[in-house]
Amino acid sequence: MSKEREELKRQIRRLAKEKNAIILAHNYQVPEIQDIADLTGDSLALSIQASKTDADIIVFCGVHFMAEAASIVSPEKRVIIPVIGAGCDMADMLTAEQLRKLKASHPGVPVVTYVNSSAEVKAESDICCTSANAVQVVKWTRSGRVIMTPDRNLADWVRRHTRQEIIAWDGYCPYHDALTVEAVELARLSYPNAVIMAHPECPAAVIDMAHVVRSTSGMLEYAKKSDAEEFIVATEIGLLHTLNRQNPEKRFYPASSEMVCKNMKLIGLEQLRASLEREGPVVSVPEDIRIKAMKAVERMMSVPRD
Ligand code: 13P
Ligand code: SF4
Repeated sequence: MSKEREELKRQIRRLAKEKNAIILAHNYQVPEIQDIADLTGDSLALSIQASKTDADIIVFCGVHFMAEAASIVSPEKRVIIPVIGAGCDMADMLTAEQLRKLKASHPGVPVVTYVNSSAEVKAESDICCTSANAVQVVKWTRSGRVIMTPDRNLADWVRRHTRQEIIAWDGYCPYHDALTVEAVELARLSYPNAVIMAHPECPAAVIDMAHVVRSTSGMLEYAKKSDAEEFIVATEIGLLHTLNRQNPEKRFYPASSEMVCKNMKLIGLEQLRASLEREGPVVSVPEDIRIKAMKAVERMMSVPRD
């Protein structure tokens, strides 16, 4: 590690302390960012944990909807994202206007929206879900028909676990959706004893090959508890850093080295330092939208886990 890098890290920690800022990093961030963060995890868990601290500033190293989620649950805190252009392709596939039209063509049908969505889309939804609780949330609605947005693959996954009719928005994550059966087959041939873990954003044909289907935090939990020694990981490759760090005695292999979310790699130590210095760019949600979006998040939190 060069002296300049060490100095950069010291400056970041000093600035965070001076400004009473908490640094959050999503599981897909580059290793240097994950290592310097106060907390790492999935988007919603990070927002909720940060809301319980007395920090004045939340620095969200992740993508835009994640910083918005932090602002929804912590309106009194200043939420910043080091690179304002770090968006999520999936979240960008559905606008509030498109959702209003979809709702109008299915009156009275409840809308379940994945957290990978804008605050405006959440505000138009009845309830939010994560990739970890989507099945429970849909069942909880007790409705024969449910609209699910924006991820068609998560909707497919839920469809397999309920008798409810699911009307899915045709959005997807380009990085998860592009994972092919052939790529997973190749990984399986190389590591025949490995447990295959897949994220529900993967296509159904890949899900069929997986031994376990989990959110990023679910994969971390599973890998820790499992007796298996080798794992093929079908999600964004950033997760491998945490998996390796938490389980040095186990081996983790990417299902495909092409699963790299370009949005998640935009933030580096330089951008993090600059954002702490200028306390921006700020991500905030207009209060009327925030209140409605918060209701959808709170409803989700009231759903009992199985
Ligand atoms: P998790 O909520 O499982 O961390 O996933 C977030 C995400 O962006 C997946 O692509
Ligand atoms: Fe969005 Fe996909 Fe990137 Fe996750 S991996 S932030 S769903 S584009």
